[in-house]
Amino acid sequence: MKVTIVGAGAVGASCAEYIAIKDFAAEVVLIDIKEGFAEGKAMDLMQCSSLNGFDTKITGVTNDYAKTAGTDIAVITSGIPRKPGMTREELIGINAGIVKSVASSIIEHSPEAIIIVVSNPMDTMAYLAHKSLGLPKHRIIGMGGALDSARFKYRLAEAMDCPTSDVEGIVIGGHSDVGMVPLINNAVRNSIPVSEFLSEERMAQIVEDTKVGGATLTKLLGTSAWYAPGAAVSELVKAIALDTKKMFACSALLEGEYGLNDICIGVPCILGKNGIEKIVEVKLSAEEAEKLKISAEGVKKTNALLN
Ligand code: LAC
Repeated sequence: MKVTIVGAGAVGASCAEYIAIKDFAAEVVLIDIKEGFAEGKAMDLMQCSSLNGFDTKITGVTNDYAKTAGTDIAVITSGIPRKPGMTREELIGINAGIVKSVASSIIEHSPEAIIIVVSNPMDTMAYLAHKSLGLPKHRIIGMGGALDSARFKYRLAEAMDCPTSDVEGIVIGGHSDVGMVPLINNAVRNSIPVSEFLSEERMAQIVEDTKVGGATLTKLLGTSAWYAPGAAVSELVKAIALDTKKMFACSALLEGEYGLNDICIGVPCILGKNGIEKIVEVKLSAEEAEKLKISAEGVKKTNALLN
């Protein structure tokens, strides 16, 4: 299993680190445009192999896509991250061109690759990858919901003062401050609805804190987060590599599911060796369905900026 990560910045390097630590891939190639940078990150990470006990071979290359040939799964993290006060949508002008050219370079050398898009505004970048590459829809996956759901579970566990391993919860909708739809009514602690433990006010607060999870970190860090994004990507890559059929919220190209068409947005997906094996349609309450519809309108507005 060969994984290529485009962009050796904080998110890309963190993806490589978590994939290596989980030790399921034979090879990870980090590729970046900055001379020597990916090589340096790869060397630093490889020097962890005896310490952390992994056999994954990590190499770094500067802009040489020939070295990515034979990639099974490619992760696109390239582009610029947001700064405090910026929305993800504001990055579209710079990132659209980068994502389009990177995606086509990957497919040129690895025509069978499954692509995971991380660059922001992620739902629109995943849509752009679909439109520009024209690959079967199961082979392009946007990573946002897995991260947003992890942030949701973190907030739920914090509020209930319990470990996150006790908590299940999922966030669908667009990967944006206003577009996320945390499904609070479906969230549970050991199969018991979280409403048994938390007040209405506290649950409403958790939903709001989840939606601005990325913005909160951007404000604290001065740039966007990388550990949880990297860990979330590593879980998607692992589910595909090991064909686990695990379910995550991912940005998928919809053709009628949830009443939506011609859009990439976060919905529950089963991941396996073919990428998105199935889009799961769950019954939403009228309120959740309305929130998803509004979220989709927001994503479509950003998509329109691609023209
Ligand atoms: C975040 C970025 C990766 O939410 O979108 O941290």
